[in-house]
Amino acid sequence: MSTDNKSKDEDLHSPTPAKAVPLGQYLPTEKPNLPPRGDQPIEERTKVTILTLKNHKKKGIKTVLCTAYDYPQALLADRAGVDAILVGDSLGMTTLGYKTTIPVTMDDMLSHCKAVWRANQTAFLIGDMPFMSYQESNELAVRNAGKFITAGMDCVKIEGAMVDRVKAISSSGIITMSHLGLTPHTRAKLGGYRVQGKTKESADIILDQALRLQDAGCSFLLLEAMPRESAQYIAEKLDIPIYGIGAGDQVDGQLVIQHDLIGMFFEFKSKFVKRYCEAGALIEDSLKEYAAEVRAGQFPTAEQFYEINEDELDKLVSDDRWKYDTPDNVKTHTF
Ligand code: KIV
Repeated sequence: MSTDNKSKDEDLHSPTPAKAVPLGQYLPTEKPNLPPRGDQPIEERTKVTILTLKNHKKKGIKTVLCTAYDYPQALLADRAGVDAILVGDSLGMTTLGYKTTIPVTMDDMLSHCKAVWRANQTAFLIGDMPFMSYQESNELAVRNAGKFITAGMDCVKIEGAMVDRVKAISSSGIITMSHLGLTPHTRAKLGGYRVQGKTKESADIILDQALRLQDAGCSFLLLEAMPRESAQYIAEKLDIPIYGIGAGDQVDGQLVIQHDLIGMFFEFKSKFVKRYCEAGALIEDSLKEYAAEVRAGQFPTAEQFYEINEDELDKLVSDDRWKYDTPDNVKTHTF
């Protein structure tokens, strides 16, 4: 992986300060007064690590997360300075055309993770474990989590209050993000895609789950689809970074599905989605224009033609064997 911009080791080996300082101060930190990552040339940025993200929380810097499922999306997200990319199993719905995320397989996920890893230089990469890749046993969960790391991910995400699985995966040295609130793998149990944590009682259940996951070694928590106040109530009681998707602004960072943000998901639009552009409409219009030009003989034109040198052109136009006008001509021509 191309993480050889300025590495974290470089920060660790910076000159020793004259005065004794608390040990924590030697931990790699984002250098102060740097412009936001998106404004720095990519080659000057450091790779985002778990330490960067924990530092964001400590300093109150909002973390920016989005999904990417393929090479161009990851390239653009990383260039734009997004801190972390989730290769979400939402790709089942946005990219593979399924109605839910349930049919997505480990093979689907690993193929997309590898494409994202090939494009990415600096963002922190999170691989989303698909349905039934971790539920059955700790052994299966650890084995499959390891495959995500081999595919270039820095961290894996699993849904629900899977305390034992989180303990097993993180004990094996793999960074884990948990996902609570609206959890699509268990949407049937939730009664569908419904906003969660709408009562004090349900917010307390999620808080209890979150605290147990944190104790089990989970490094990050994602809260999906809940009132801002409930997310804040939970976030304030945890030490790990808490990110939200449709969970208000009182959390440590925001995740969006890139297809939602750019207008490339057509089935429905959740309340929490903000469209920043209409890439889908732009692509459709471009394809319509292309189709119209082909039909009208306006594409391709000289600008798109390859050239042939004069001598070869003379031979070509004088060689009537190219005309293929009789079966005999076809037979005698050799390529
Ligand atoms: O798969 C995904 O993109 C996700 C988000 C919806 C949170 O899990």
